[in-house]
Order: sequence, then C-alpha cells, then structure tokens
Amino acid sequence: MPIGVAAAFSNHANLLSSSERQQIVTGDFSQVTAENEMKMSYHYSNGSLDFSGPDRIIDFAMQNNLSVHGHALVWHPTYQLPEWADASNGNFKQDFATHVTKVAEHFAGKIESWDVVNEALEEGDTMYRQADSVFYQVYDGPEYIHEAFRLARQADPNALLYYNDYNTENNGIKTERLIALLRDLTDNQVPIDGVGFQMHVMMEWPPISDIRSSMQQVVDEFPNLMVKITELDVRINNVYDNNTANDASELTPALEQQQGQRYYEIIRAYLEVVPPARRGGVTVWGVIDPDSWYSEHSGNGVTVSDWPLIWDANFNKKAAYFSIEEALTTHQ
Ligand code: XIL
Repeated sequence: MPIGVAAAFSNHANLLSSSERQQIVTGDFSQVTAENEMKMSYHYSNGSLDFSGPDRIIDFAMQNNLSVHGHALVWHPTYQLPEWADASNGNFKQDFATHVTKVAEHFAGKIESWDVVNEALEEGDTMYRQADSVFYQVYDGPEYIHEAFRLARQADPNALLYYNDYNTENNGIKTERLIALLRDLTDNQVPIDGVGFQMHVMMEWPPISDIRSSMQQVVDEFPNLMVKITELDVRINNVYDNNTANDASELTPALEQQQGQRYYEIIRAYLEVVPPARRGGVTVWGVIDPDSWYSEHSGNGVTVSDWPLIWDANFNKKAAYFSIEEALTTHQ
C-alpha cells in the first residue's frame, strides 16, 4: 500500500527547493499529496485553467517514482476557491462541470487517486454543510457530490475516487453521517472507490477504540470500498481540555515516546481492521514538525506550539517514525 506524505510546493517548506525534504520524501515514501497546490483555486488564474504550478508536482513525483494522491477536486473554503465558484455566477453548474472534468482529464494517467469531494458533512444540525458550501447552495442539496464523482470517473476512469473528511474517525455523529452518505452514493450507483479518514487527531482523542470501530463500520458495510488514512498528524497539546498548565512548551523525550505510541496504535488499528486488498494507504500531513499546519494552533483562547509530525525541526527522525515502521512490519 502507498505510504504517503503531504508536501508544500511554495513558501518556506517548498519541496522543490529543499534538498533535506526531498531526501526524506523520496527516501521514505512512495506517494505524495500536495498540501495545498492541487486544490481548486490553484488550477485557476485570471479566468482560465492554468496547470503550470500543479504540473511541477507531477514532474517531481514522476522523476522520483512517487505516485500522487490528488487533493482535492471539490472543496468549499472560500480562500481556496476559483473565481467562478460564486453563488451569483449564472453559469455556476456549467463551470463546476468544466472544472472537475478538465482537472481530472489533465492529470489522467499521472495520478493514482483523487479526493473527489472533501468535507461535505456537517457536525451540527444538518447532515451536510450548507451555510459554508457554495456547492450545496447552488445545487440546493448534495447532488453536487454525485455530479463530481460521475464527472471524475468519466474524465479519468483509472483514478481511484475517494470521499474525504475529518472527525469521521471518532465514532460519533459525523461517522453516522459518513455511513449515510456512502449508503446514498452506493445506492445511487455513484462511482466511488474509497473513503479517506483525514485523521488529524490528538494524543488521547478520539480513543483508539472509536477510531477502530469507525473504520470497521465502513469495512463491514461497504465491501467494495477502500479505506485510506489521508492526512495523519498527532497534536501533543490539547487546547480544548481547559487545562493550560498541561500544555507543553517543548517536546520532551517522554512526550515524544507517548506520541510514538499513539502513531503505533493508529497504524496497528488500520492494519488490523482494513484487509490488505482494501488498503488505500497512509499519508502523514507534512514533512518536518515546523511545516505542520498545527506547528502552532489555537482554541479556547489559547495558542500553543506543537510537534505533530514524524521528523523534527532538524530533519531527525522522531520516535513516531520508528513506531510507524515497527507497526508496519509487525501487523502487516
Ligand atoms: C490545510 C493545509 O495544511 C494548510 O497549509 C492550509 O493553510 C489549509 O489547509 N483538511 C484538508 C486539508 O483537507 O486540505 C487541510 O490542509 C487540512 C484539513
């Protein structure tokens, strides 16, 4: 199965200009996901599609024998939307179809899999995101999800097509909704191949038993779907526990070991729950700790530093690296 890593292709962590990161990515991984640069807005500039940025990612991957997991064909956040994705655009649905089709066609043959739709589910009152999804609004319902998968399959019949989301691994309301969405898609013969669990987790949350049973439900109820861990990282500091005294200001050896143990348990759960033929692989969300989107994070009025990944700021392997390695060899 692919072992992947998210890499940046711009700014300080740019893979293309960092030989240290290149050594890690090509030495220890078989797949790469662009952390940002294959999202909707990046294929678009001044009113037309422009693949020059994303193509550099594909070139790097091909030169180095890495497969690419595409992220993502459809995702709602306004800061990463192309200009046409505005509810006032009278041509919205046509532009949507063109976008999904052209992007998937462009990368066809060069890409292993796509997150076709990212984060369509809601945790609050409604099943689907509505207020913050321009797609839901214009389509007046979740039909855009069906449409995206159908168009993606047509444009690239060989890519594996995933639905991807977060907090679906906690065996709560979002897990239930994930199952309902998958039921809806499969009942309607929508072409989907797998489910991505982003897996941005903390040290103790969600409990490993919940992670396990969330994946187990998908495995049991949808025998034709693959399961992929798409964005794994493990935050050490919990800003939601109302206990700031507990927040670490540096990564101690003891914390690093505990984090390694947590990574171990997650990989072990994945390997024990998902049968080999249905494993889409595991991707960690960033190369070295300071690259992580959680290297500093806030909540509850607190801001903390963090070390969520498996290489440290000096490009040294952390305990988590070795525990993942051990989990992969022990639980195949
Ligand atoms: C994040 C990136 O890591 C950040 O650099 C960016 O500023 C925002 O997006 N779920 C996803 C990813 O599907 O695309 C997000 O990546 C993290 C949450």
